[in-house]
Formats: sequence, C-alpha cells, structure tokens
Amino acid sequence: MRKNLLSIASALALSCSVSLALAQDNVDKKVSDLLSKMTLEEKIGQLTQYSGSELTGPQGEKINISEYIKTGKVGSVLNIYGTSEVSKYQKIAIEKSRLKIPLLFGQDVIHGYKTIFPVPIAMASSWDLDAVGAAQEVARNEATASGLNWTFTPMVDIARDPRWGRIVEGFGEDPYLASQFAKLSVEAFQGSDLGDETSMLATAKHYVGYGAVQAGRDYFTVDLSKRTLWEVFLPPFQAAINAQVASIMPAFTTMNGIPMTGNKEMTRDVLRNQLGFTGITVSDWNAINELIEWHVAANQSEAACEAIEAGVDIDMMSNAYINQLGALVKENKVPISLIDEAVARILKKKFELGLFEDPYKYCNADREVKEILSPENKAKARDVGKRSIVLLKNDDQTLPLSKSLNSIAVIGPLAEDTYSPMGPWFCNGSKDNTISVLNGIKQAVGKNTIIYYQKGCDVNSSDESMIDAAINTAKKADVIVAVLGENSDMSGEAASRSEIGLPGLQEKLLESLFNTGKPVVVVLLNGRPLTINWAQDHVQAIVEAWFPGSEAGHSIADVLFGDYNPSGKLPVTFPRSVGQIPIFYSHLNTGRPATAETKMLKYVSRYLDIDNSPLYPFGYGLSYTTFSYSPIELSASEIQPNDSATATVEVANTGEINGEEVVQLYIEKADSPIARPMQLKGFRKVEISAGNSVDVVFHIGPEELALYDIDMKKTVEKGIYNIYIGTSSVTYQKESITVK
Ligand code: GLC
Repeated sequence: MRKNLLSIASALALSCSVSLALAQDNVDKKVSDLLSKMTLEEKIGQLTQYSGSELTGPQGEKINISEYIKTGKVGSVLNIYGTSEVSKYQKIAIEKSRLKIPLLFGQDVIHGYKTIFPVPIAMASSWDLDAVGAAQEVARNEATASGLNWTFTPMVDIARDPRWGRIVEGFGEDPYLASQFAKLSVEAFQGSDLGDETSMLATAKHYVGYGAVQAGRDYFTVDLSKRTLWEVFLPPFQAAINAQVASIMPAFTTMNGIPMTGNKEMTRDVLRNQLGFTGITVSDWNAINELIEWHVAANQSEAACEAIEAGVDIDMMSNAYINQLGALVKENKVPISLIDEAVARILKKKFELGLFEDPYKYCNADREVKEILSPENKAKARDVGKRSIVLLKNDDQTLPLSKSLNSIAVIGPLAEDTYSPMGPWFCNGSKDNTISVLNGIKQAVGKNTIIYYQKGCDVNSSDESMIDAAINTAKKADVIVAVLGENSDMSGEAASRSEIGLPGLQEKLLESLFNTGKPVVVVLLNGRPLTINWAQDHVQAIVEAWFPGSEAGHSIADVLFGDYNPSGKLPVTFPRSVGQIPIFYSHLNTGRPATAETKMLKYVSRYLDIDNSPLYPFGYGLSYTTFSYSPIELSASEIQPNDSATATVEVANTGEINGEEVVQLYIEKADSPIARPMQLKGFRKVEISAGNSVDVVFHIGPEELALYDIDMKKTVEKGIYNIYIGTSSVTYQKESITVK
C-alpha cells in the first residue's frame, strides 16, 4: 500500500514539473513570437516607465503619458492606481497602440495600500511571521483590487546606521531576520500563482548595500568588503530570489566606486549568474540619468549604454532609454540582443500575470469596494500593530495602566496626530482613517476616567509657549502618558538626521513632566533608534511603538492597558550616542576587547566618554511577565561536518500574566582563521501561559553552521561553535558544540 502511495506521489510530482515546464515553454514561445513583431522603438518602449501625477522622486522631463502609451513608448507606469484610472490607461494601450501590449501598474505598497500597517522596522519588531504575512496579504489584496499588479516591496536593505532615514523601511540590522521577512513578503505578494487576480509582482530593493551609505547620508557612497557584502547585505536578496521574486531594483548608491545602476559586475554577473535572478530589473527613480551626476557618464547616451550593459531592464523616469537606445543600437554601440533579452523578461512577466488574456483583470470595481479598509483588514492592522510594540522599560510595574484610573494626562506633539502614525511610504492611506494615540486611549478607558490632553510643544521647534499649560494639566492627573518622537517626514527617503535625539523641545517637555512627580509613561512614535538616554534614566516606563499605521491608537492602547502583553523585540540596536554609529550586535571581538574586567584599563577598545554598550541591544524587549531559561541541552557535543544536532531549552513563564517570548538562537565560531561574530541563526515566538513552560528545540546543522571560508566558499569549518539561546543578543544560556 505504502509503495503504491509513494509511486502515486512521485508520479504526481513528475506530472506537475512536466506541466510547469510545458507552461514555461508555452510562455517563452509567446514571448519570442511577439518580440519578432516588435519594432526597435516598440521594444525600447517596453523598457520605459513613467509616473502618474503623484511623484515619488524629483520631477523629470515632462511627457504626455497618454500619447506615449498610444505610440508604444511606455511599458509600465507607477503611481497610477484605482480601477477607473488604471482602466483608462490600460484601454489606451489595448485599443490605441499597434501591438496592444498591456501595461504593468506599480506602486510602493511598502506597509499597506489603504489599510496602513506598521512600518517595516515595526513589523520586524514583532518577529511574528504569521502576523506580518497576514498584513502583507491584506496589502496585496487591497492593491490588486485597485488595479495594481506590481509593488516595489520588500525593501530588504540591512541598516546599521540610524542616521539614515530609510532604516524605517527595512527589517533591521540582521541578515537572518531580514531574510525571513524578505521570503515571507515575496510569497505574500506574489501568491502561489502569479496568474491569480490577487497576485502581483514583488520587488526586492535596493540592490545592494544601500543601508551602508557613508555617514548615514541618503544617496551617498557605499564601500563594502566582499566578505561583508556576502555575509551581511546579500543574504536577504538571495532569500527573495529563492522565493522567486519577480523584480529587483538596483540602489541609487555605488559599490566600491561604481553606481549599482551602471555596475556590470554586481547587477549583471553577481545578480544573475551567481545569485540566480531571472526576473526584471527596474532602475530607481531617474537613477540612469544620475550616472551623469556620479561622473561615470558624460551624457545621457553614455548613461543609457552603461545601464543596459549592466543589465538594467527598465528605466524609471529618466527618459534615457527612450531618448538614447535607438541611436545606440543603430550605431552598433549597443547590441540588439541586450534590448531583446530585457524586453523578453518584461513580456514574460506580463504573460505570467495573465495580462494578455485579460488586461483588465485587476480592474474589478466591485472587488475594489469590498476589499478596501474592510473591518477584517483593520483588525489585522491593529493586531500586527500591537505585536510590533517593544516594551523598553517598565519600572515598578507602572504598566499596564488600569482602565479605571481617575484621570490620565495625554501630553505631547504626536498625541493627537493622525498623519505621522502612518509613517513614511503610507501609499494611499489617509489620516482620516487613522486612530490617534489620544483617541485610542479615550476609547479604551472606562466612562469615569478623565482624559486630559495638551500638545506641550511641537515635534521640532523652539516654541516654549505650550509647556506651562501642559505641566499645569499634567499635575491634575494620576498618570502622564507622554507621546513623543519624530514626524513621519523626518523618516524614510531623503530624511537623514545628523543627531538622533528627541527633536525640538521634547526632552525639555519630558523633564518638566517628570518633575511634576507623577508617574510618566513615554510612548515613542519614530522611524529610527533614538538616543533617549535621559528618558531611560528617569521615567518609569517606555514603549517603542514606531509608526504603527491606521490602527495606531488602538494598538498602543491594547498594550498600555494590558489587553495585549507586549512581545516585540528590537530588530536594530539603539545607540547611546550618535558617536557610536555604526553599532550592532554582530560585531567582532577585537584584539583588545573591553570586557567587564578590562573596560576601565587604558589599552582596550573603548571610548573615554561613554560605555561601549548600546542603550538597548538587538533582540531586546520586555514583557508584563517574566521568563526563565533552562541550560541548553545538546543532543550531541560533537558532530561531523554534514551531521546535525538539536539544542533544547525549557522556557518558563515565571510571572502571573500569559505572554509570548521570542526565543533567539545565536551561533559563533569560536576558533577560525577568520575573526567571526555571533550571528542570529534561528528564533521561535512562543506563547506560554503563566506558571507554565515549553521546550524550545533548535536544529543545529550545516544550514546553521556554514560560513564563508578564506576563499569565500560556504563550508562547515571544523572546530568549536558557541551556541547561545536567550531572550536577546546579550541575555542567553551558552553551550558549545564541536565539529570534528
Ligand atoms: C524612490 C525610492 C524607491 C521607490 C521608487 C518609486 O526614489 O528610492 O524605493 O520604489 O522611487 O517610488
């Protein structure tokens, strides 16, 4: 019986792979047939992308987009959305152009389409793949119901410099954690079948190393060693490619002197031949033209030539391809084969999406009404929002607050704000659909609780005129909730900051609030780690809420009043000072480590004026309960290179409240010809009821142990590996395993 079952299963698998291969052959044939009918101008048109009126970059050369579509000069558009708008432009392509090739419609659906979810750094703080996956699927459903078939998401740039505004857009400092979310996002947006009306093309961006910009300054230079490139910055892209990501966007930045948009080695050889990417590459906004500003191209013609040679398929908004490629081909400076291969990749995606069969498949107005901002979608936003919150401090069990307090003073420049909580890249969200922190608190408390509110100060000004009123109000209340942080326009693209403290007079306001003697709870709304040293040293409780999206007020209130026990963990290190940057957990030991014993000696790696340690480490986050970890139990203390073992810890909830704990696995090669850091290699988010415990088991094998050796070949080196399992990158149980 079992034999028959196995043979049926293998026959089924074989037939699936055969039908898949046949389907691909069928698409390839359609692509080559269509390609053979296209003029050179029509081919270049497929490589050209323009934006609708809502610009997400500098205004370039203005064109008449309808006319360009009609004459076959456009293959895809961005920032045109909604079934009626999309239908309007698709109709021009289908009814007016010669070959009736359907358009792709893209937008930055970074953390939600109309129902806005927490910003990606917040979703990464949840370490909750199920909750984040559900959020991305809602984003996909709302976007595809609104005409879109391409999103420029996920942004998978590893970031270790909080001066860089775009740290908000990614999944933090660690390649393993970012890779999990990269894979998850690609699968969520692309679904199991690209031909489904709820599937859309995903884009892994910005390839590669954008988060390592010099001094955290956006669009600046990037220099990385080959080892750092492959060990830290490429893994999330490899994860996205392994998940069959449809497109990749090269970064604005350079790699060792050559801009990614014109970098043949990186964007053609490494990306396609070494990482195995077969999809579409789309330039970033105007990035081809900007090769001139980088002084690597004398003019637009040279820029177009460098970009197409580097394997950039689509020119977003620079006009370089449409203006220059025709002449370059006719003058034999660019082989037609480079054009044909790029066009083929684009047509292939259009066939795979089913756009030739039904160009209007994403334009179902009834579906649009049903999907957008549904109660279920909002509930998922509230859920992932509360799971993304990190409890940074909670002295004297100040939190959770009682819902029957006599009075609460909600003070701060972001308390009533419904715009900033959406965060940057809020797509088509609206502040009118966003719940402020003040509103969330008001709706959460009992009818007898008085809620006072004062703004206290602006987010970023020197106007002291509101502070006194705030203090006088605060004095009347049982507890103060101070809602502080950044405006969303201080975060995201083109929003680097040279200092990363609370802007404006917020710290002055906070000190005045603290001096009233009332308990103070700080709620942070921000897009980057902040040097909130004073707050950490003084106030009773601090909650990191990031930019939580449409349901901000409800998610935050769920945590403040204990309807949800916070479970978030930091995906990025918080420095004590901007002077420590770049600071991250996975650092080398150095030859003169500043340990507890040595850190006050002279000749060690340390600062004269500040401790080496961060304000809050990677993986850190408190709970309303407490957890304890048993010593690690290894199934074997010695294994062969291709063998594996298990590492088990018993995690107990030693408090009185049910809670979730993110159990983290780190591994560090203790003896290698190459200095090695500890690296996250696994995690489990487990729910443990009060007074109970669970066994958490991690697999330790080649996947977890393999490292790039001296020749940059991934191998399992022999020797000793330290195994750390714990509640953060600094609090853990430790064991060692030897590979013989
Ligand atoms: C922007 C961003 C990129 C985005 C693109 C289109 O400049 O760098 O992430 O996808 O333009 O909006």
